[in-house]
Amino acid sequence: MCGIVGYIGNRDCLGLIIDGLKRLEYRGYDSAGVAILNEDGEINIFKKKGKVKELESQFDFKKLKGHTGIGHTRWATHGEPNDINAHPQSDMTGNISLVHNGIIENFKTLKRKLENEGYTFTSDTDTEVLANLIQYHFKQKNDFELAVRLALTEVEGTYGLAVMNRSEPDKIIIARMGSPLMFGLGKDEIIVSSDAAAIINITKNVIYLEDGEMAVIKFDGFKIKTIKDEEIYREVMKLDYDLEEIEKSGFDHYMLKEICEQPEAIQNTYRGRINFGNGEVKLGGIESVKDDIINARKIIIIACGTAWHAGLLGEYMLEEYCRIPTEVEYASEFRYRNPIIEKGDVVLVISQSGETADTMAALKEAKRLGAVTVGIVNSVGSSIAREVDAGTYIHAGPEIGVASTKAFTCQLMSLILITLMIGKSKGTISEKELKEITEEIKVLPDKMKEIINKRNDYKFIAEEFKDSRNFLYLGRGFNFPVALEGALKLKEISYIHAEGYPAAEMKHGPIALIDENMPVVFIAPKDKTYDKIISNIEEIKARKGKIITIATQDDNEINNYSDYILRVPKTHPILSPILNSIPLQFLSYYIATARGCNVDQPRNLAKSVTVE
Ligand code: M6R
Repeated sequence: MCGIVGYIGNRDCLGLIIDGLKRLEYRGYDSAGVAILNEDGEINIFKKKGKVKELESQFDFKKLKGHTGIGHTRWATHGEPNDINAHPQSDMTGNISLVHNGIIENFKTLKRKLENEGYTFTSDTDTEVLANLIQYHFKQKNDFELAVRLALTEVEGTYGLAVMNRSEPDKIIIARMGSPLMFGLGKDEIIVSSDAAAIINITKNVIYLEDGEMAVIKFDGFKIKTIKDEEIYREVMKLDYDLEEIEKSGFDHYMLKEICEQPEAIQNTYRGRINFGNGEVKLGGIESVKDDIINARKIIIIACGTAWHAGLLGEYMLEEYCRIPTEVEYASEFRYRNPIIEKGDVVLVISQSGETADTMAALKEAKRLGAVTVGIVNSVGSSIAREVDAGTYIHAGPEIGVASTKAFTCQLMSLILITLMIGKSKGTISEKELKEITEEIKVLPDKMKEIINKRNDYKFIAEEFKDSRNFLYLGRGFNFPVALEGALKLKEISYIHAEGYPAAEMKHGPIALIDENMPVVFIAPKDKTYDKIISNIEEIKARKGKIITIATQDDNEINNYSDYILRVPKTHPILSPILNSIPLQFLSYYIATARGCNVDQPRNLAKSVTVE
């Protein structure tokens, strides 16, 4: 949630900060602002409701010169999105300027205390309270670093923040508790950000702050301390992707680009990890806990949203092929319901961003309870990746579109690899089936390309259904999680209400919704669930619902039951969710674009949910 950029260095920084904010807009985009220290030592603040381009169009930026500044793109938590609540927020004297990501939970108490001291407020934000609290301590101690530290010791909640002080203009102070923050070390310049996307065009050398730490960033260097004032030494890390990977490369939207990138992304997930000769899978990052996983008494998968759907499929696969009791939990529920973790339990945490607040909190709770924790993460060096005992990166590359697409299919591939690794070691999967699956994995990217190459076919169906008010998505077995994911994709980017259900469960209630206006998407591969799915289709047909099927290439029988068919190549059942997801991603994409929706930045959403 929210994007933060800060700069101190030898260049005019306004353009750099604006550029960085644009790259971070996927994290939040209801308002934006910048604070620049100008050549007269004054801090100029510009902020505006709406996207960064609206901020740009509003003010004559070109005149603004300065080498130190901070910027913010917001996803509102306290106070509606408007010009006043946009960040940067200042204290009442205008001395302190602050951008903040997170929630100050005790802001009302702090506000009352400051009001009693004569402080006044203009916005509804918790951030303005923090800016005033820093000024309050600065007035007492006349030391900026100390003032930030003292203020933060009073704060309860989460923050990633960058703050400037007109009275000590040579520095930016940053701090982190629960919201990601890092800085990149360029030549004669340092750029701060909540996300590597705003740094990569300047440098690949980055330093991540940990929770409870702050850093004083100056033109000629930096120092990191804990909020308790202990000095910290931190290694410089190298970002492992390039600028081109986070640009649109000629596609209309990031989402479309990311859907089309899946064949390559999936290959990156399994490359070098499967021995195609003997079916052995080696995942270097989890080698240290491999025995714990193989001998797990129980596996608990924790995630949110799309990653939770991947986790649900993980449960199906691990139980079927590894015979390990597995549960999948919403991270937000897990941590508050006194979960039972016993010796020998392994917790798998799935997250694209590696920064989701609920997932992180659940992970910490699982560790506290003694579980061995394993991450399946996309974002290299992210908070979750660093917190787990061991982990495997999915290597999907940067995912910018708010709707997760390639991360989902790569999460599935990672879970398949873990399943094969355990199944082979335990002998719960036959050598014959292992061979079949690994042979199919080799040709999977080509089969994905076949689906992607036919994407224009989906536009016609999207036009037919773009004005529907509701959709049902139905699947069985491995394809039930795919139905849930298909419905989520449609909801989040087209704002059409959609539900995913196990196909047979429909009779227990949702069938009452069916009439001639209800489109029902069936995931109907030619596998052991096929005959049952056909019966479920008949039930919908009898009630005049419109049937859209995701069907296997050579299945002619399905023609008798479908109004519209989206074909996918035949594959092994464990891989079929990967192929079946792609037409559903395209369907939601083309419906949303036909409705004129902003698919990359849907309303009310943000790419990574770093508040609880
Ligand atoms: O970064 P994470 O995988 O932890 O994010 C989890 C969810 O917030 C995310 O999958 C969300 O549901 C997406 N918008 C789905 O497209």
